[in-house]
Amino acid sequence: MANKPNKKPQVSTTGHEWDGIEELNNPLPRWWLWTFYACIVWAVIYSVAFPAWPGISGATAGFLGWSTRADVQAEIDANAATLGPINEKLAAAELTEISGNPELQGYAVSAGAAVFKTWCAQCHGSGAAGAKGYPNLLDDDWLWGGNIEEIHTTITYGIRSPDDEDTRFSEMPAFGRDELLEKEQIDQVANYVMSLSGTPQDAAMVADGAVVFEENCAACHMEDGTGDRAQGAPNLTDAIWLFGGDFASIKETVTNSRKGVMPNWNARLSEAQIRAVATYVHQLGGGE
Ligand code: HEC
Ligand code: HEC
Repeated sequence: MANKPNKKPQVSTTGHEWDGIEELNNPLPRWWLWTFYACIVWAVIYSVAFPAWPGISGATAGFLGWSTRADVQAEIDANAATLGPINEKLAAAELTEISGNPELQGYAVSAGAAVFKTWCAQCHGSGAAGAKGYPNLLDDDWLWGGNIEEIHTTITYGIRSPDDEDTRFSEMPAFGRDELLEKEQIDQVANYVMSLSGTPQDAAMVADGAVVFEENCAACHMEDGTGDRAQGAPNLTDAIWLFGGDFASIKETVTNSRKGVMPNWNARLSEAQIRAVATYVHQLGGGE
């Protein structure tokens, strides 16, 4: 049987050949070529119609003027226009009268919940239950005061905020670090503080601790340890702790002091937003 002669190619070859296999110079399929050209035309039209070419101060805008940023801004503007009147009312109302006005109260609580989730939850927790160093806003234990006016002041100016000279401020001395008390005295007073709300670690130290407390702590925490809101000095008798009520935590507080900081919000939030979130916090359960 004779070998079938190799079919001679109808098209030219590229001249490449490996072991008798030749590379033919077939044209690309029509459909492929036209799709390819269509894509190029589409790309040109697209890149002038929509934002595409990066520049130094932003991309080209495109002749259709399409922009998600502008869409969002338009939505924000529309929202502000509908909420404008009620925000003005909220900002102008007497703080103490908001809760008696169902329309304002309802709006403030729902708007305040949104502000809280955005600006406050990182520190105070999404449910406002707080964490070590960040007070629980659900209970009726207040460092600086729990009526609507005091809450409003706290939020507006912050606490020990370096950016506002009207901020709430007080400083518990670092009794250990600054050598105001001996180590022994700190152990004694820590035991006395524990005795105010429950059981001291070492009952034998309580009596001496009471003397140390009287001389060094009562000016802020009061003789009976119930604290002073004018100075943000916590009540030490209620077994609610900001920084911890075990011996080691109290010793750390007295040795180095704590100085919790909350930012002032008057620079970031509008008066209506501050009032909304103050109303929201006030009605969480502990408001006075
Ligand atoms: C960066 C963390 C941080 C953020 C964010 C923050 N706080 Fe605070 N907040 C604190 C700290 C810390 C304290 C306690 C300061 C102290 O030790 O006296 C505090 C205290 C408070 C108090 C006083 C509680 C009391 O017992 O008197 C209120 C009210 C409060 N925050 C509300 C808010 C609201 C409302 C927002 C959101 C607009 C907010 N906080 C955002 C850290 C924060
Ligand atoms: C100048 C006022 C001042 C004096 C004096 C002072 N404290 Fe305080 N103390 C504060 C303030 C303000 C805080 C809250 C700190 C913060 O929020 O960052 C505090 C917090 C504490 C806490 C933390 C409470 C908690 O809930 O975790 C303890 C414990 C405490 N003080 C004990 C003492 C003892 C003991 C002394 C005396 C040796 C003393 N303090 C003296 C102002 C004072």
